[in-house]
Amino acid sequence: MDEDASIDIATADDEFDLMDALGSEEVKNAIKLVDVTRTYSLGDREIVAVDEINLQVEPGEFVVVEGPSGSGKTTLLNMIGAIDYPTSGRVLVMDVPIGDYDEHFRALFRLTNTGFIFQSYNLISTLTALENVMFPMQLFEDADLKPEEEAHRLLDRVGLAERTDHLPWQLSSGEQQRVAIARAMSNDPPLILADEPTANLDVDSAQMIREILRWLNDSGKTVLCMTHDINIIEQDRVRVLTMKNGVIGENV
Ligand SMILES: Nc1ncnc2c1ncn2[C@@H]1O[C@H](COP(=O)(O)OP(=O)(O)OP(=O)(O)O)[C@@H](O)[C@H]1O
Ligand SMILES: [Mg+2]
Repeated sequence: MDEDASIDIATADDEFDLMDALGSEEVKNAIKLVDVTRTYSLGDREIVAVDEINLQVEPGEFVVVEGPSGSGKTTLLNMIGAIDYPTSGRVLVMDVPIGDYDEHFRALFRLTNTGFIFQSYNLISTLTALENVMFPMQLFEDADLKPEEEAHRLLDRVGLAERTDHLPWQLSSGEQQRVAIARAMSNDPPLILADEPTANLDVDSAQMIREILRWLNDSGKTVLCMTHDINIIEQDRVRVLTMKNGVIGENV
């Protein structure tokens, strides 16, 4: 095989580099945003999608951000998830200033620190439920982890033990989202980032997703969820923030 064509697979050795970067001290902020701005240029127009946001989320918090369409929620989440960069300002995740590192580090950081849940699931259509969940574990080769066993355990946890061999199109919407959550839980990241995770779901499936998010938070994960779902917003033990025109504030 042409070496250049091979995928750059992370190994557990890289984990030590990551640990060096993370340091051994306790994490102060799961998320810290300092004057974070993201603008887009469209022709001669400049759109300010995120406007000098400052935010701190402590480890173990469940934070919900609501706000009208176009207010900047996805843009903000993508910067916290190291998918996108701010135009200005600093993004710290688990106290790590992720903007200061190269793409290799950021990819590794994403794999081990953040579990992303999307509105449209984003499963790989040619992989089974089990293979979708195994995928992030195979990218981050941890010798102590048995990806197949772990993927079975995670799918069982989201109630899909009987669906492991199904391809995404052979699953209902709610089942696809549960596979996506199991995938987000692989590599056991401390931070779960969810972008309108219940928006496309029926009432029962949405309830199941809410319960899984609550369970994830109860088991120690920090959860940041962008949503219009009033049943998430009105849950106990969530901090609700409102986003409008790229600006964020406490919901009063
Ligand atoms: N790639 C892009 N290029 C130009 N403008 C963009 C781009 N992505 C987003 N925007 C603009 O930035 C603003 C914020 O978009 P964003 O998708 O973050 O909003 P949102 O709050 O997630 O909306 P929704 O609730 O509909 O998902 C919008 O005005 C949008 O049109
Ligand atoms: Mg959005």
